[in-house]
Amino acid sequence: MIIAIDGPAASGKGTLARKLAQHYGYRHLDTGVIYRAVGYALLQAGADLRDEALAVRAAMELDPDTFGNPALKSQKAGEAASVVSAIPRVREVLLDFQRRFAATPPGAVLDGRDIGTVICPDAEVKIFVVADAKVRAHRRALEAKSRGEEADEAKILADIIQRDERDRTRASAPLKQAADAYLLDNTNLDIEAGVRAAIDIVEAVRAGRQRV
Ligand code: DC
Repeated sequence: MIIAIDGPAASGKGTLARKLAQHYGYRHLDTGVIYRAVGYALLQAGADLRDEALAVRAAMELDPDTFGNPALKSQKAGEAASVVSAIPRVREVLLDFQRRFAATPPGAVLDGRDIGTVICPDAEVKIFVVADAKVRAHRRALEAKSRGEEADEAKILADIIQRDERDRTRASAPLKQAADAYLLDNTNLDIEAGVRAAIDIVEAVRAGRQRV
């Protein structure tokens, strides 16, 4: 089974996807990390983030062994990811990797922006996670502080709003809820409640019944 989790930045979709994968014994891919790795490669090279040739090369040379690099979690890497991810050729190069991951047994949970719409349009379960932007900014600030980084919540909020806008309005695979995705509003849910809500959705789909 393939479970597609999409949503805007810092909506909590990543944690939710990881916990859901643990629950079902599936593999998990945070697809944002792929774009972060490409963006980070360009930042490291001091290159212009809109340099298509370089971004495509970085995508082709993607090394999953670097996905655990903590530098990829930074606000800067997230911004860079948002810029390079708007380049259609970059998305094209990364498509295969994601689809192969999804198709590998025993099952997979992928989280990102376009999993339910483009990468795995036939996923058995699709969940679109949303949360109020202020709540998302607050969560990101807490995360940054827990890593010992400085966190200016107002700036994080401005960045989140700008990033959502870029991700939603780009021509190539924009962030959007698939027609057959379930909406999960994570604003007032803690991690445990969010995971429970997601499991309820998966179970309802498995049982072949409509969610009430
Ligand atoms: O989920 P995240 O914050 O790690 O994602 C970083 C950026 O990568 C996001 O702003 C847009 C891009 N992205 C994408 O375009 N498609 C995906 N499936 C995942 C992320």
